[in-house]
Amino acid sequence: MALRKVVYIEDQMLRKKSRPVTKFDERLHTLLDDMAETMHSLNGVGLAAPQVAVLRRAVVMDCGTGLIEMMNPEILETSGEQTGVEGCLSVPGRHGLVTRPMHVKVRYQDRNGVWQVLEAEELLARCIMHETDHLDGQLYVDIMDREVYDDELEQEPDEDEPEETDGNRKE
Ligand code: NI
Repeated sequence: MALRKVVYIEDQMLRKKSRPVTKFDERLHTLLDDMAETMHSLNGVGLAAPQVAVLRRAVVMDCGTGLIEMMNPEILETSGEQTGVEGCLSVPGRHGLVTRPMHVKVRYQDRNGVWQVLEAEELLARCIMHETDHLDGQLYVDIMDREVYDDELEQEPDEDEPEETDGNRKE
């Protein structure tokens, strides 16, 4: 495994539409392994392939319930609403208040090309929406309600709250 270089907001690579993953081979597996390592090394909860300059529809996420890899994700259903602070490894040093669906149902292929369906809520739902947006060239800054500044972040109480786990996730 190896760390990949993350591209930043000014990079036009982040604005392009990624193409579907069609080959579920060793090269893809190396990309996914590298993306997970890169995400974890930067304390991120999600990373999309265009963020490492690969224009393919592949994302990795780890919102505290283990690593999830999604190829060619398609949002099937959304419901509810949540508004919360979001950041992005390609937008270092900034945060924004973003409104997202509370529940998401997504269909995707795993690293072997097998179709899966996952229902997610709260942080994982937010993460799925954020990462799939990357595949269409959209960043959270395009849709945020407003910028959130560092002094506001220090007041956010939820950092130390015990994690709630729901049995609602199919993995
Ligand atoms: Ni991002």
